[in-house]
Amino acid sequence: MTTIQPHGGTLIDRFKPETPYGHIQKEIELDLTALTDLELIAVGAYSPLTGFLNQADYQSVVDQMRLSDGTVWSLPITLPVTHESAESLSTGEDVRLTYKGVTYGILQVGDTFFPDKHDEAEKVYKTTDLEHPGVKKLLDRPTVYVGGDITLVKRIEKNSFINYHLDPSETRKKFSSLGWKTVVGFQTRNPVHRAHEYIQKTALETVDGLFLNPLVGETKSDDIPADVRMESYHVLLENYYPSDRVFLAVFPAAMRYAGPREAIFHALVRKNFGCTHFIVGRDHAGVGNYYGTYEAQEIFSQFSEEEIGITTLFFEHSFYCTKCEGMASSKTCPHSSESHVILSGTKVRELLRNGELPPSTFSRKEVVEVLINGLRKQKEKSA
Ligand code: ADX
Repeated sequence: MTTIQPHGGTLIDRFKPETPYGHIQKEIELDLTALTDLELIAVGAYSPLTGFLNQADYQSVVDQMRLSDGTVWSLPITLPVTHESAESLSTGEDVRLTYKGVTYGILQVGDTFFPDKHDEAEKVYKTTDLEHPGVKKLLDRPTVYVGGDITLVKRIEKNSFINYHLDPSETRKKFSSLGWKTVVGFQTRNPVHRAHEYIQKTALETVDGLFLNPLVGETKSDDIPADVRMESYHVLLENYYPSDRVFLAVFPAAMRYAGPREAIFHALVRKNFGCTHFIVGRDHAGVGNYYGTYEAQEIFSQFSEEEIGITTLFFEHSFYCTKCEGMASSKTCPHSSESHVILSGTKVRELLRNGELPPSTFSRKEVVEVLINGLRKQKEKSA
């Protein structure tokens, strides 16, 4: 049974479908990121958060990667609204949170404040470059933040991956029922390639189970679509993984591409889902060249192990070595880079778009087939 404590000690549960809201006049229309954040807060994935950050917590997270009570928290989870909408809100009142006109939650307004988004970009993303997809999104969203506790009154309808949406309370039960005492969480926004498989299986040699937890929320447009990725995970698991040691479920949050800060966030969230270990490899949650290869690992040294509370497993950049005839990293392989098959996600997407096959030393053939078919269908649809 996994006994790992949620972050902050209590698994937050703020889904109260019976809460009356018909009398609440005011509403805030959410964007997709805020809608998924609302649900993830409510089901405890973001424990100890009980709502969108108020100004004190926001400033403390941006400046120190901690909530104002000192708990480690690295990404500001905020509710941006227009100036006009913010002006109509008063502290203490209840507001309905809607998406496409449907009410999903209630916010008890704590405060409204103007964030310094330039400062947020510098500190959270380490750049103010608008080419950075996380920064662009940050600046595109409205200008005022509203803080306050939330209640979820309606679950988001799951139209895809229906059987793969599990709340932290459910994954925790699942891991227990499988008899797993130690579980390693794996975040990904890509198809699982040989390097991913290598680090997952290396980790799996020392723990009881692998929680493959792909992010399926909003990603940048040139990432491989989530439905194609899910199909690739299925064929990979069927063919190359022991079914009793791997559990697949989706993580519906939006990708922020905040590199090091997002690695901490990803680790804390997987702790809430019941993982005892978390994999951080090369350039975790990075994009372009904004972050150093191992910055997402180094950032953890700013906190004590107890504060993070989940054991991080750091992996070197791994590759296939034609001389070793297997997967390796600079830690385990003595050969020079000419023997190494190193392809980036970007390079693979490029190959696939040109109809070229990534080599089997990079990607399993079953995965390549799914990706090629998926991208062909996508092209046909958009034609
Ligand atoms: S991420 O944005 O979700 O981090 P990706 O799906 O590529 O991107 O990575 C998933 C995990 O695998 C991350 O921890 C990342 O650091 C790790 N990773 C990806 N490629 C490699 C590699 N070649 N060697 C080692 N770790 C890797």
